[in-house]
Amino acid sequence: MKKNATLRHEGFSVGIVGVGNIGGLVAHGLLQRGVSRVMLYDIQHDRALGKAKDLSQAAALGDFPEYRVHAVRSCEELTACDLIVITAGKPRLPGMNRQDLLQLNQEVLASFAPDLMSSAALFLMVTNPVDVLSHWWLQRLSLPRNRIFGLSGVLDSGRFKALLAEALHLSPRSIQACVIGHHTDAMIPLRSSLRVHGFPVSSDMLSLETYRSIVHATRHGGAELVNLLGTGSACYGPAEAVLTMIEAVVRDEKRVLPCSVYLDGEYTVKEAFCGVPVVLGRSGVERIVSFPMDEEEASLFSQAVSSA
Ligand code: 2OP
Repeated sequence: MKKNATLRHEGFSVGIVGVGNIGGLVAHGLLQRGVSRVMLYDIQHDRALGKAKDLSQAAALGDFPEYRVHAVRSCEELTACDLIVITAGKPRLPGMNRQDLLQLNQEVLASFAPDLMSSAALFLMVTNPVDVLSHWWLQRLSLPRNRIFGLSGVLDSGRFKALLAEALHLSPRSIQACVIGHHTDAMIPLRSSLRVHGFPVSSDMLSLETYRSIVHATRHGGAELVNLLGTGSACYGPAEAVLTMIEAVVRDEKRVLPCSVYLDGEYTVKEAFCGVPVVLGRSGVERIVSFPMDEEEASLFSQAVSSA
């Protein structure tokens, strides 16, 4: 959904649980793109109320398509939403890894899970550690696996592409690149997925040394921003990635995107969440896409998922 898209999304409603930086940017992006109804919940109700008012005023200024944005006092009021984004919880601080947030953020999710038990919504998990918490959420709400997917590879692939574009002096729009695996430092940027305008990248275009430094920077891209910002995680990249995923759902795009999803034997992973390319459409995770990995990548993937 490009800004001011003419395509209105009649009647599609999105709930956002947690309206910190990422949640607020996602809400703003949805209204710009014509999602007709956005509902905000935050444990600090005044924060949700303030952001709803601010967004309404922005919409009036920005000539957004018709919209309705509300702050709600309970997650129960989100039950009827078509899709619910969960960003509630703490971000990591310098020196932490995403897994360090598990106990704290699982308690946050547990505090509002009962309010959403009866919802038929799709759930998009952003809260970290996203793979583990997506699994916890699937089990807590007894969800079919098509209805819960996590922000992982879309963001990581975006960082991968940005670094490759810089090294190759090309537009990111000319580059295809995919990151799979867990949304942790063990994520796997796939060399075999790298294309420039559909063509493989030769070693004289990109040296092995440069490529390896790009892989490292991709894996630690989130931590780098946490260290630079000092008080929380990235927000613009995560928000843009979430909007890409929501767009695929709202427009029923059947788009292949790398997301953290429940695997039940695919890629040799059983009963766990991991980031792989999936088809996203109006019913959520519509298909898990099998793709060839080279021997090294298959070994890295197997090591990463077995050590999780
Ligand atoms: C990141 O990598 C927040 O996990 C997210 O920035």
